[in-house]
Amino acid sequence: MTILDGKKVSNQIKDEITAEVQKIKDRGEKVPHLAAIIVGNDGASLTYVASKVKACERVGFESTLIRLPGTTSELELLKKIKELNENDDIDGFIVQLPLPKQIDTQKVLLTVDPDKDVDGFHPTNFGKMALDMTSFIPATPFGILELLERYNVETEGKHTVVIGRSHIVGRPMSILMGRKGFPGNSTVTLTHSHTKNITQITSQADIIITALGNPGFLKAEMVKDDAVIIDVGITRVEDESRPRGYRLEGDVDFENVSKKASFITPVPGGVGPMTIAMLLKNTLLAREMHKA
Ligand code: GUN
Repeated sequence: MTILDGKKVSNQIKDEITAEVQKIKDRGEKVPHLAAIIVGNDGASLTYVASKVKACERVGFESTLIRLPGTTSELELLKKIKELNENDDIDGFIVQLPLPKQIDTQKVLLTVDPDKDVDGFHPTNFGKMALDMTSFIPATPFGILELLERYNVETEGKHTVVIGRSHIVGRPMSILMGRKGFPGNSTVTLTHSHTKNITQITSQADIIITALGNPGFLKAEMVKDDAVIIDVGITRVEDESRPRGYRLEGDVDFENVSKKASFITPVPGGVGPMTIAMLLKNTLLAREMHKA
């Protein structure tokens, strides 16, 4: 069994990006600039955004964090997005999700300039992805592809089962694994809350990608020998023995499933750090695109 070490690989990617930034500086050009908008005070979202800003510093990008109160109106947020669309100094930006109830997320995502949409959430980028055109690929699915590639995990002709159909992870992942090339050329089944007999499906999978947010959902009985297991779940579970009062748990019963798996991602230290590395990669791509 091999652990797919997202922490290690994400550090390699960050080192590669740092080297690219040095080349940009040596040429006397502007370094990539990522902006992030966060609305409200959700603890997990604040932590994620802080990690993204820190990662920018680590690789030598410029970053701007825009914090708006939880009472922000949709109109105010749309105005801020339009400002970022028009600001030539910003190469890419993200609007951290979820947004407060008074704001229509679809409207927000449609307002982001697709050329600055480093999250890859705009329908233009999603459509291009589905049509094998060059586009920004959402960071978590992009990170999973990168991890499979760097560990040379065979995907060709394999049966990949994706659990969860979210717009951010499950749905794009199901498209990407079926695309031509490597990693890809997989036969994909997308399962979700209305799927019947899920064990029957998962137990036939060569590769399982689970993005549910349901701690310990995937049990050893649901997995065949030598399956590849990618765990996208990161749920905060209360734990008074931990310094922060919680621990992070994935969707996979790691202790038991890891005994059967050929490759498996840990939580934390698997998919999570890859997501941040690939957001940086998308921002670098955005800079190169805007230069041209
Ligand atoms: N919320 C959970 N994951 C993400 C992500 O990748 N990007 C943004 N913007 N919000 C998120």
